[in-house]
Amino acid sequence: MSERVRTLIKEEEVERRICEMAREISAYYQGKELHLVSVLKGGVFFTCELAKRLSVPVSMDFMSVSSYGGGTKSSGVVKVIKDLDEAIEGKHVLLVEDIVDSGRTLSYLLGNLKSRKPESLRLCTLLDKPERRVVDVQVDYTGFEIPDEFVVGYGLDYDQRYRNLPYIGIVKPDR
Ligand code: IMP
Ligand code: MG
Repeated sequence: MSERVRTLIKEEEVERRICEMAREISAYYQGKELHLVSVLKGGVFFTCELAKRLSVPVSMDFMSVSSYGGGTKSSGVVKVIKDLDEAIEGKHVLLVEDIVDSGRTLSYLLGNLKSRKPESLRLCTLLDKPERRVVDVQVDYTGFEIPDEFVVGYGLDYDQRYRNLPYIGIVKPDR
């Protein structure tokens, strides 16, 4: 099946917003070291762009979970595919994700990370689809709130494709 991608948020707009978020996050963590936990694979593009613009000392780790099968439907099941390399006890952890949809993945991840006793734990997402929320999660930093549409680009995929698009686009089946 083929599909079309329509631009929702332009590259320059995404970059401008990431700069703003980096300033806000740097101000909040002033005088502290920040440990970024990026969620593979989608969160990586955003994490790197954000990390480059932070003015506090930063370390990074990665975790991979699966919540979706192929296509655009949620299975509702969260499974750890790759765990963190290092312990986060006593660290100021910022969890960085591409998108909060139902909230299941992040609710699970926040609980999982919290049990490892970080000094602090906050959540940062590039995109949020508030209309789709099933499980309540507290998001500390949001790039953009978007409508209930399936989006790709900036790390987000449709069956593993389009992650490399430098903008956010909406996928529509081609009829
Ligand atoms: P949640 O657990 O339903 O909040 O889903 C979170 C995960 O679903 C994200 O990390 C994405 O991998 C994926 N996801 C949700 N919405 C979209 C979308 O519009 N495009 C691509 N992936 C999405
Ligand atoms: Mg993801």
